[in-house]
Amino acid sequence: MLRAVVVAGALLLSVNAVVAQQDLVDRTQKLMKDNGRNVMALSAMVKGDKPYDQATVDAALKQFDETAKEMPKLFPESVKGLKAFDSQYSSSPKIWQERAKFDAEIATFAKAVSDAKSSVKDASTLKASFPAIGKSCGSCHESFRLKDG
Ligand code: HEC
Repeated sequence: MLRAVVVAGALLLSVNAVVAQQDLVDRTQKLMKDNGRNVMALSAMVKGDKPYDQATVDAALKQFDETAKEMPKLFPESVKGLKAFDSQYSSSPKIWQERAKFDAEIATFAKAVSDAKSSVKDASTLKASFPAIGKSCGSCHESFRLKDG
């Protein structure tokens, strides 16, 4: 009896651990999807398809900043191999093999975002700052994001 309780307790603990890890993966996916939406919004302004709008810019940069701050905590070894249920993308195992390079990608992204936060105030300053952000998204994906199927 006691043994059964202990075994059940241990199972529950490991189920909880898996759920917690899945939460990290789902949080990453949510941040990335929001990044995608915000990049589209900024890109429309850079191209001149939409008028410059400071509130949209501020919201986008705030969300990128949150992403940059949370990313270092979202990839412990324990999430390796897990993926969001409804995603065509997953994290490459290279994140854990080349951790220093991955951390450097986060730092490059964080720097591009903070530079933009301190300089973007109109369409031309947005045009000047946007490429560095877009480049840092693309550079990390090239090395550390896998597309399934
Ligand atoms: C330091 C690395 C890194 C940076 C910087 C980064 N990403 Fe990602 N991104 C990833 C990884 C890893 C995945 C795969 C995991 C996932 O899909 O959640 C991903 C997935 C995505 C996805 C697919 C989400 C899904 O699952 O449907 C989108 C969209 C995306 N990123 C957009 C962006 C945009 C836009 C930026 C820049 C504003 C950005 N990312 C910056 C690493 C990064």
